[in-house]
Amino acid sequence: MHDLSGQLVLADVQKAIGYVLAVLLVLAFAVAVLVNMRRGRAEVGSEVELAANRKPYMADDELETKKLDRTLGVGLVLLAVIAVALPLYWLAEPGRQADAVAGFADVAVARGENTYVNGAQCASCHGPEGVGGVANYTITDPSTGDFVAQVQWKAPALNTVMYRYTPEQVLFILNYGRGYSPMPAWGAPGGGPLTEQQLTNVIAYLTSIQLTGDESKAAVQAELDATCKADDAGQCTLPGAKYKTLGEAVFNLGYDSGFAGGAYSCGRCHTKGWSYGQAQVPGGGAMGPNLTGGSEQRQFATAKQQEAFVSAYPKAGTAYGSSGWSSGRMGSFGTNPNSIDPKTATMSADQVMLTEEQIAAVVAYERSL
Ligand code: HEC
Ligand code: HEC
Repeated sequence: MHDLSGQLVLADVQKAIGYVLAVLLVLAFAVAVLVNMRRGRAEVGSEVELAANRKPYMADDELETKKLDRTLGVGLVLLAVIAVALPLYWLAEPGRQADAVAGFADVAVARGENTYVNGAQCASCHGPEGVGGVANYTITDPSTGDFVAQVQWKAPALNTVMYRYTPEQVLFILNYGRGYSPMPAWGAPGGGPLTEQQLTNVIAYLTSIQLTGDESKAAVQAELDATCKADDAGQCTLPGAKYKTLGEAVFNLGYDSGFAGGAYSCGRCHTKGWSYGQAQVPGGGAMGPNLTGGSEQRQFATAKQQEAFVSAYPKAGTAYGSSGWSSGRMGSFGTNPNSIDPKTATMSADQVMLTEEQIAAVVAYERSL
């Protein structure tokens, strides 16, 4: 976020000067009207001698010396004022426009925050400042509609959401929601209540609350140390660790602890029941496809190719692997080239969900499923 305080002060001063000038002009106008009304009433003489709207004028001598000099002098002064003031105004204009754009961006963030906290209450599920949370949800039988269970469904942290998704992907998720989960549709295309402008503002707010790369990496490392403590060979060494390898721990990051609402995990999309603590076959498929039974060996000839896919998820509509085709629903877990706008540098290249080592580990785990 830029610091706008200096520019805003300048804008306020300009506004104040403008108001003072406006008030002075109105006062001067009122005085002129009053004075003229008085003068107009005074009878100067009969129409023949001197009509009421005429006055005896200066003699030629005076007119061509004093009067002429004074008028030319006033003209010169005004010309000088214009010669100085106009370039000054032009010089300041690009800055004023830039300030207006920056101020506009700040307004978008503030409005987006208001929608996040109050309007749509995203915070009630995704946590304050997008730290992640849970949503109460009733699971029903898809064939009969009967009640199955009341669960708490992890709502992923959004303070890294721009790491994994491009703004277009986020807009798509917001427009349509995730119909199989507690995440409702928010945009008009999905039948939701918010306008595209409101959603754009929410995305501006989300962008403003993204963690730094270091904060995110440290949090993931702390969580992995608490669940796995991998050695150099990627085996978990924590006594009684639930997971055998670093890759398995990454795949399930936050399953028991609720860390970041599972945002960094793969299981939340690739394992049925993962998000509400009833994980079924690991990697057996949910919203994301089944990764087991050697399917990933078939899709990606080498682990490197699969790592590249997980790191930088291909744009919607483009092909990957031997017969994959991106739908735009997954995200990038390494450097997300589509999110880094070279013009604004909104995201920096070190804002990644997982390190190269962690991605290699999770890919090795998936290829073993
Ligand atoms: C009733 C709870 C609830 C509310 C309110 C809610 N969400 Fe969600 N949201 C969820 C859940 C649960 C998920 C995860 C769904 C899944 O498992 O795929 C989710 C997923 C998302 C995702 C995808 C994140 C990812 O990494 O997969 C985004 C983005 C998102 N929500 C943004 C928002 C925004 C912005 C709002 C407010 C306009 C909002 N949500 C309101 C519950 C909620
Ligand atoms: C938000 C949900 C989501 C998350 C989280 C997610 N995936 Fe996916 N993944 C998908 C979807 C959906 C696809 C199917 C491809 C598509 O639609 O573009 C997919 C496809 C894949 C594929 C290719 C499968 C194939 O055979 O074509 C791999 C490999 C994969 N994901 C690995 C991962 C790993 C590793 C992680 C965690 C680091 C992960 N995914 C996290 C949703 C997700």
